Amino acid sequence: MTDRYAVIGNPISHTKSPLIHAAFARQCGQDISYEALLAPLDGFRETVMAFRNAGGRGMNVTVPFKIEAMALADKLTPRAQLAQAVNTLIFDETGITGDNTDGIGLVRDIQRLGFDFTSKRILILGAGGATRGVILPILEEKPANLTIANRTFAKAEALKTQFAGITTINATTYELLSGQQFDIVINATSTGLHGEHLPLPEHLFAPGALAYDMAYGKEETPFQIDARKLGATQTADGLGMLVGQAAESFHLWRGVRPEIAPVFSMLRLKP
Ligand code: ATR
Repeated sequence: MTDRYAVIGNPISHTKSPLIHAAFARQCGQDISYEALLAPLDGFRETVMAFRNAGGRGMNVTVPFKIEAMALADKLTPRAQLAQAVNTLIFDETGITGDNTDGIGLVRDIQRLGFDFTSKRILILGAGGATRGVILPILEEKPANLTIANRTFAKAEALKTQFAGITTINATTYELLSGQQFDIVINATSTGLHGEHLPLPEHLFAPGALAYDMAYGKEETPFQIDARKLGATQTADGLGMLVGQAAESFHLWRGVRPEIAPVFSMLRLKP
């Protein structure tokens, strides 16, 4: 019997996940189905349980349910616990496991681009949920240091405190970045969605630096444009992170890890 999976969110009609997982299934010779499920804003739990009772084996969770999914899971992986958000549910005989593959998806995509985190100076712009989700997987790559800059300093400081038992994170503001240089700069703010720009200082990008925007769209993002003007050697948007997190979810469910690159190319070429 074909194993069933789904992505659940609200809204959900624009999701690329069914396309991505169908491509993974073809690539890996796996017999699965993967659909998009719209849950009412007050009906997340019911929709998940109905899918599971109908034989569903796992789900991806997207906006706005990633925090609710954490409460629904019987157990959480350490990275989901630290992210305080769940994007992957695994249903098996032990119950419902909640995991978060966003951070490792980001790390793998940046590695696909030919950049290594080890001993590098890493800067994350923003201190919201998107940032919290990627801190642990980045730290596991043993960077030289990790800095979080945010408009509201207290939120960067709160993340620093949350991770104090694990490592030292530098917390700062955009103004205080002046004079510092980084090898990888990741935009995890929601500014691009509203066409806003971040006040980034000159000389922020070290020679050879990557500017990576977690957001993506048809065009280059405002952050990519700003970063290039400021001298970033390479820029990328978050389409590859989307494929990367999907690949890690697929691996959790099926035990095989699909290749990101061919699926990324397929999505990029789509109008
Ligand atoms: P998410 O869960 O997607 O990370 P969030 O928790 O609302 O969303 O966080 C949004 C991030 O974008 C925050 O870091 C926010 O900065 P503040 O904490 O100072 O609000 C940042 N952000 C949003 N609009 C911004 C803007 N116009 N300029 C600078 N930062 C902005």
